[in-house]
Amino acid sequence: MPNTVTITDNRTNASYTLPVENGTIRAMDLRQIKTGPDDFGLMSFDPAFTNTASCRSSITFIDGDKGILRYRGYPIEELAEHCTFLEVAYLLLWGDLPTEQQLKDWVHEITHHTMLHETTKKFLEGFRYNAHPMGMFVSTVAALSTIYPEAREVHNPAIRRHQILRLIGKVPTIAAYCYRHSLGFPYVYPDNDLTYSENFMNMIWKMVEPKYVANPVLARALDILFILHADHEQNCSANAMRSVGSALTDPFLTTAAAAAALAGPLHGGANEAVLRMLDEIGSKDKIPAYIKQVKEGKCKLMGFGHRVYKNYDPRARIIKWTAEQVFECTGRNSKLDIALELERIALEDDYFVERKLYPNVDFYSGIIYQAMGFRPEMFTVMFAIPRTTGWLAQWNEMLTQPEQKIARPRQVYTGHETRSYVPLTQRKELAAV
Ligand code: CMC
Repeated sequence: MPNTVTITDNRTNASYTLPVENGTIRAMDLRQIKTGPDDFGLMSFDPAFTNTASCRSSITFIDGDKGILRYRGYPIEELAEHCTFLEVAYLLLWGDLPTEQQLKDWVHEITHHTMLHETTKKFLEGFRYNAHPMGMFVSTVAALSTIYPEAREVHNPAIRRHQILRLIGKVPTIAAYCYRHSLGFPYVYPDNDLTYSENFMNMIWKMVEPKYVANPVLARALDILFILHADHEQNCSANAMRSVGSALTDPFLTTAAAAAALAGPLHGGANEAVLRMLDEIGSKDKIPAYIKQVKEGKCKLMGFGHRVYKNYDPRARIIKWTAEQVFECTGRNSKLDIALELERIALEDDYFVERKLYPNVDFYSGIIYQAMGFRPEMFTVMFAIPRTTGWLAQWNEMLTQPEQKIARPRQVYTGHETRSYVPLTQRKELAAV
């Protein structure tokens, strides 16, 4: 029978034929495989989702072996070359590139949702002067939930769309306010005459000049970086977005949960970790000793390796090209030489070759951000701004798919069988708690 697999249970000699669809079997089809009427049935065990498709999605396609990334079918290279970030945001959310009029309306709508409620400013002021911007960002996005209670109506498409506009419009403002707070600078209000990236630069860097004028090369580079970071299918934070959103939590709290996942050093926090690693290495002659430590398992080469890409991350290639444009304006970041040499040595080393470890998106992005004037603590926040669009596209898709229910994995229980209560005076001390 085509498009089926037959499983023989050697415990019972029974055979089961399961349908294969899109290269998958349904995990629930395993449940019929039982040793007897009291048996719960077979489950699949996949602790880190290494081989489990959790959803159908028509947003982003990755072929990790070939190093291919496409948004809604368009190669990332073409989008990075020809589009603005907001054009790509429209594509990811609504499925197609906008017409000229649709783009004009979309940009207008996003631009008119960039202001924060004044109480949010006060909320930010409560953070300690040295609070990490990512912690401030996550908390402030969550706090928006208290301002827009109607956002709870997640099954209403018009209300959903309104919150999407708000979130995409407001995340650069929140990010910039976090930055200004950590420097003790006054907050800069959004400027509706500017593009999405220019306005972000304005809110970050404007001082006393009456009108901020962004360097066009840097603004375009930032827009390209935003495009590259906009979505990446079922990564750790997108999975958090879908998982939390499946409980029908409002999009502000759900986005905060996704941003919290992004903050970790194995995910979006890697860009900050790469810069710290390059600082630690310090000079090219120290690279072999550092690689030795990595191979001994003492540390990881940050910005290297990927769960899905077993080839060069296509985003890292575009980022390298963008870096050259930025350095022509800002001067070369001295860390680039260490990064290039690190990459060269790693790509020739058997340890990295055998494990198919290549530079990922985070390897070079921090070097560009630093050359542009951003501090390392801001790098992951810079990742969160465009990724908010991807999270929202994933969330919106999930809520319109009838087969999606509350995300609720199973477990393999390894604890005690039933035991009786032990009175306090009769308990023995555990070796270590
Ligand atoms: N440096 C050294 N060894 C590594 C690295 C690394 N960066 N990444 C993986 N390995 C080794 C790992 O130790 C394992 O070796 P062995 O087979 O001997 O045990 C092998 O390669 C397979 O790795 P894995 O841990 O099974 O891979 P994974 O798919 O679970 O993890 C990863 C993927 C991205 C978390 C991991 O490669 C990593 O920690 N990289 C560094 C952090 C980083 O750059 N993260 C950004 C990822 S891309 C952007 C994003 O997601 O935000």
